[in-house]
Amino acid sequence: MKPFRSCFVALALTVPLLSGCSGDDAGEGRTPAPPALPSLASLPDEDPDPGVLEVSMRAMPASKQYSGAKPSEVWAYEGTVPGPLLEAKAGDQLVVHFQNELPEATRVHWHGVRLPAAMDGTHLMQAPIEPGQGFEYSFSLKDAGLFWFHPHMRSDVQVEKGLYGTILVRGDGEPTVDHETVLVLDDVRVNADGTFPEFLDDESKMMGREGNVLLVNGVSGPEIPMQSGALERLRIVNVANGRFFNLRLEGHAFRVIGTDGGLVGQPWDTDTLLMAPGERYDVVLIPNGKPGSVVTLWNDPYSRGHGSLAAAPELLATVRLATGASLSGRSLPSAFPEVEKLPAGAADIPVVLGEKFDDKGELVFTINGQVYPDVPPVLTANGSVRTLGVKNESDMDHPFHLHGFFFQRQNDTGTLKNKDTIIVKAHESMELTARFDEPGKWVYHCHILEHAEGGMLGELHVQ
Ligand code: C2O
Ligand code: CU
Repeated sequence: MKPFRSCFVALALTVPLLSGCSGDDAGEGRTPAPPALPSLASLPDEDPDPGVLEVSMRAMPASKQYSGAKPSEVWAYEGTVPGPLLEAKAGDQLVVHFQNELPEATRVHWHGVRLPAAMDGTHLMQAPIEPGQGFEYSFSLKDAGLFWFHPHMRSDVQVEKGLYGTILVRGDGEPTVDHETVLVLDDVRVNADGTFPEFLDDESKMMGREGNVLLVNGVSGPEIPMQSGALERLRIVNVANGRFFNLRLEGHAFRVIGTDGGLVGQPWDTDTLLMAPGERYDVVLIPNGKPGSVVTLWNDPYSRGHGSLAAAPELLATVRLATGASLSGRSLPSAFPEVEKLPAGAADIPVVLGEKFDDKGELVFTINGQVYPDVPPVLTANGSVRTLGVKNESDMDHPFHLHGFFFQRQNDTGTLKNKDTIIVKAHESMELTARFDEPGKWVYHCHILEHAEGGMLGELHVQ
């Protein structure tokens, strides 16, 4: 697979680069002040019942200006990128009156939410929602955690154009913190005139589209307010098509208290937090530093294969510690109730992730050697607990995502986690156990959206 590397480098050089904060309007050598971290939009609750969150949401064209470029025509839920943050409690019913005002068909997928298959927004269970049409999504939010939603139709284009939003579900027994911030990480590839370059160029096809502008809550290099000595909680999701983020906050460790499927029994500390597209992490920290000082949140280089290593850390955001007295006496939470462990059985569902050139010389991504829709569906009984043997035989990492169910990695190092998306590194194997307790047709796929659209997707039928 040698040709990939040179191909990637050559193409990368042709991408017009915008720089985050130099540019004409920077003034006479002054660095412009970083933008404030945008808070995420919310939608009015149309149902007075406290156990129901009922909202109306459109997917629609909108305009948005990305750092250093002219305004872009984006597609957005209710006109904002990121789209709305829906806040609810575990056990609440979520009702979304969805309307498609885009010029093409779409469907909404609720990433990580355990719901009836008919509400999952895939092509197996739902007809396309044509322009001008609507659909009512309605399901209960069983689990606490940070989830997100995005189109499951031409997702490589529709997500890149700005269609994504978040769902924050609170449960019992959450830690008491001083501040909580939701961070939506993304990148976008945009020309100086605001247009988007061709979506499925060779480089995007291979690596998943990586942008030339990094975004946190829709802006580049924002300033995140925190307070020295305070217990700060960050809920983070990576919604990029292909980019992995490898977070590092200068002078601080993250204590990870939760992942995709909620809190974990034994939180752990880490200096860097690697996040593939689709993954979520829930972290806490107590900033140390003089009030008024600034620390940098970096995106550190990480190689996910095929010569993808960036040369240097990139600035993702800055954290400004509020002026005024530091808080004192805060401590980091160190334990939560353990996640219920699923009984491990033999890994009898093989899922081999691969890449190859097809008859026409096109690069394709495969599951068990086949390109979807030629991948035979996995059949399993309702209520079965089964283990997938996921083996990555390709030269790059693939974030494996399963719809509708959480899985647990066997022989995981550290605490037991409920995940729905996990990085399977190049040539790595792992066993993932899930309880398939919701009938219907589901999908699993690589969450590099170009890989999923390009065939690295399979069906799982729960009968
Ligand atoms: Cu977040 Cu099938 O995807
Ligand atoms: Cu992939």
